[in-house]
Amino acid sequence: MSASCGAPPGRSASVWPVNDARVLRFPDGFRWGAATSAHQVEGGNTRNDWWRFEATPGAIRGGRGSGDACRHYERFEEDFDLAAADGHTAHRLSLEWSRLEPEPGRFDPAEVAHYHAVLGALRARGMEPVVTLHHFTNPLWIADRGGWESRETIDRFVAFARFCAAEFGAEVDWWCTVNEPEVFAFRGWAEGVWPPAVRDRSRALVVIAHQLEAHGRAYRAIHEADRVDADGDGHAARVGFAKHHVQLEALRAWHPLDRLVAHFERRVFNEAVERAAVDGRIALEIPCARAVRRDVPELKGALDWFGLNYYTRWRVQAFAEPPHVATPGAPVNDLGWEVWPDGLRRALHAAGRTGAPVLVTENGVADAHDALRPRAIVEFAEAMHRAIAEGVPVRGYLHWSLLDNFEWADGWHGRFGLYGVDERDPGAPRVRRRSAEVFARLARANAVTPDVREAAGLA
Ligand code: BGC
Repeated sequence: MSASCGAPPGRSASVWPVNDARVLRFPDGFRWGAATSAHQVEGGNTRNDWWRFEATPGAIRGGRGSGDACRHYERFEEDFDLAAADGHTAHRLSLEWSRLEPEPGRFDPAEVAHYHAVLGALRARGMEPVVTLHHFTNPLWIADRGGWESRETIDRFVAFARFCAAEFGAEVDWWCTVNEPEVFAFRGWAEGVWPPAVRDRSRALVVIAHQLEAHGRAYRAIHEADRVDADGDGHAARVGFAKHHVQLEALRAWHPLDRLVAHFERRVFNEAVERAAVDGRIALEIPCARAVRRDVPELKGALDWFGLNYYTRWRVQAFAEPPHVATPGAPVNDLGWEVWPDGLRRALHAAGRTGAPVLVTENGVADAHDALRPRAIVEFAEAMHRAIAEGVPVRGYLHWSLLDNFEWADGWHGRFGLYGVDERDPGAPRVRRRSAEVFARLARANAVTPDVREAAGLA
């Protein structure tokens, strides 16, 4: 598919009068782009723990695993053409650890060359790479040696981070060590719906702590190994991690138990993780689990930027199944998650309280028919604009996701793409959704303009 993909040129915000109150301008240099992760889009990641897990009967909704995914491993150039034509100036991706280091300490030169080509393709199109080192998947050899419950994994991950920083540092300034330690741990070790399918909340807390510690130590390793300022902006490496901030509120505001449980969940899921990277103090406590408390000196201040992933709000009901529900009557996406744009503004304030500049590293809507997403993109941008006006230092926004992709245990049921992909035919042309057009206008204008609203059907 050609780079233009039928996209109209779009207008810069400068065509609107400076004092036009309908135009919400973002700061100069604000980054717009999309986010993906290797296992969800590449296809053929046979050497990681998810590939193995996907073969377990009943593990994946609908039964279809990642398989060829979007064949992005082969098609990355044309996918980046689409993003570049839509005005994206940044792109978040992850390096697949199991490809780069298929056996302990042995790095595969062909895969190293592959990721150089990927990063080079982004830079050639004027898109700044934001590179994640751990996005949920682990090489089989890591999983089989105790995975993230083992302290050895921290050492192994730090060595991997050091290798990547030295190898790719000339192409990358924005490093994201780990993605969502709390989601990774709770899904895999508490709910048991992701590998390694454990159901033990105490063990989940150990995993969060290990990922946080790994972040702190990788932060130092990356700064030591990457001294090249790829963008010429005075920063050789900027290191952060991505946190999933979910809004958690009592279902029944009057109910003391709903309020108490929501309070505990907010504390462990959001606040404890957000604070740990600031003061180096890990303090993870939930009822009926062994608390984890310790100070990690390397973690203190290990934050050049904070990556915020925001999707939804859950209402908490104590001692009931399911424990989390959407706000009754609110719009929900295809996975039943409430679409609540003001939650992004609030989450940005929480992120800003770390004192670090913020990148929105994920935000999006699972919406196969693109019914809610065009409008949501505009409303999320408006909420982010408000947060910036209120003083939160937001540097960019990376929409989840460029393409429909493998949605972990939900299989192919959550379709988050600006572009549609048919997983049964991942070689077919990507299908441009109206959302891609809305996002393109937003990115090109660096503003919410009447044009953007019109494309979203809001004018
Ligand atoms: C993850 C993504 C995932 C998205 C939507 C985030 O928790 O980082 O990998 O696809 O949410 O569920």
